[in-house]
Amino acid sequence: MGPSGSGKSTLLYLLGGLTHPTAGRIWLDGSELTGRDDSAVTRLRYEKIGFVFQRFNLLPTLTALENVSIALKLTFFSDGNGKRDLTPPEELLELVGLGAKKDHRPNEMSIGEQQRVAIARALVRSPSILLADEPTGSLDRDNTQKVLEIFKKLHKEHGQTIIMVTHDPDVARQGDRILHLVDGRIDS
Ligand SMILES: Nc1ncnc2c1ncn2[C@@H]1O[C@H](COP(=O)(O)OP(=O)(O)OP(=O)(O)O)[C@@H](O)[C@H]1O
Ligand SMILES: [Mg+2]
Repeated sequence: MGPSGSGKSTLLYLLGGLTHPTAGRIWLDGSELTGRDDSAVTRLRYEKIGFVFQRFNLLPTLTALENVSIALKLTFFSDGNGKRDLTPPEELLELVGLGAKKDHRPNEMSIGEQQRVAIARALVRSPSILLADEPTGSLDRDNTQKVLEIFKKLHKEHGQTIIMVTHDPDVARQGDRILHLVDGRIDS
């Protein structure tokens, strides 16, 4: 949590290796991110991280199902042996309550629905860490609670770590730990 401009999105970008720190070192799950070349960081992100961006970043010409599936199709790396089973994109859309809208394009969906497509897309590779920037920011109470229940389930049943930015104290209270950012620093 923290005021606008305090560095919440920047912190998520740093954790996900999407931007580089000017000082300090970043460790992710036992591996150091800082000092690695871009392709190594990209690989680590690909294997471990799901992102829900503050501005969703859905592709406007693709349907909901295609927006979710594309993350599986863009396979830059071979997955190797013993790859865990991934949840099919259709099931993820069901999970976020959008099974019936899978063939809709972003401009045929409400903002809240687009946000839930972005959440389904972030989950498609079963990331061990989900970085979510205001994932409930455009949702009403009911849908906010639905998304939080999905997150709790992922955490409980799959041990997934979820790092979420929120302005909403009721949402924040449902996390195990709350960090407050002020002027780019963790205050408490
Ligand atoms: N690529 C960048 N280069 C330089 N400064 C940036 C860059 N991105 C963000 N900033 C600045 O860093 C500060 C933190 O921005 P950030 O987007 O992390 O804020 P935030 O806490 O996510 O705010 P909001 O709640 O409005 O989303 C802001 O002052 C912003 O202007
Ligand atoms: Mg932000």
